[in-house]
Amino acid sequence: MGELSRTGISLEHDLLEGFDALIAKRGYKNRSEAVRDLIREALAADAVAANQTVVGTLTLVYDHHVPNLAQRLTEAQHQGGALVLATTHVHLDHHACLEVILLRGQSEQLKAMADQMLAMRGVELGKLVMTTAGLTRSHTHDHGHPDAG
Ligand code: NI
Repeated sequence: MGELSRTGISLEHDLLEGFDALIAKRGYKNRSEAVRDLIREALAADAVAANQTVVGTLTLVYDHHVPNLAQRLTEAQHQGGALVLATTHVHLDHHACLEVILLRGQSEQLKAMADQMLAMRGVELGKLVMTTAGLTRSHTHDHGHPDAG
């Protein structure tokens, strides 16, 4: 974590009460951590909106019996512009496959790749979630990261 700065904000009593109730429900121990997370979320959303380099997960559920679908999904990952970091595949049942694809690239590249795959016949459900890494905090390896030195 970087050097801490302190700030104060003014807000209506009702708004603060509502915020305290929300963060208690979500399990926050104090307002500061809840506010920090809201700011991180806003910065990540801004990075996505500004087509910055982001990381993302694309979750797909598809029917592997649809002809050529698995091959077309693979081709889309090779040609899509975004970098595929890893994929995880689980055979859910006789028909359905669950695949999670980890991506890095400009948000527009991720979105285009996801849209292409989600529109394929046989892809039944799916969702792309994008976020940032390293832009909203310094990475000090104080959380037990495997490559901590
Ligand atoms: Ni499968």
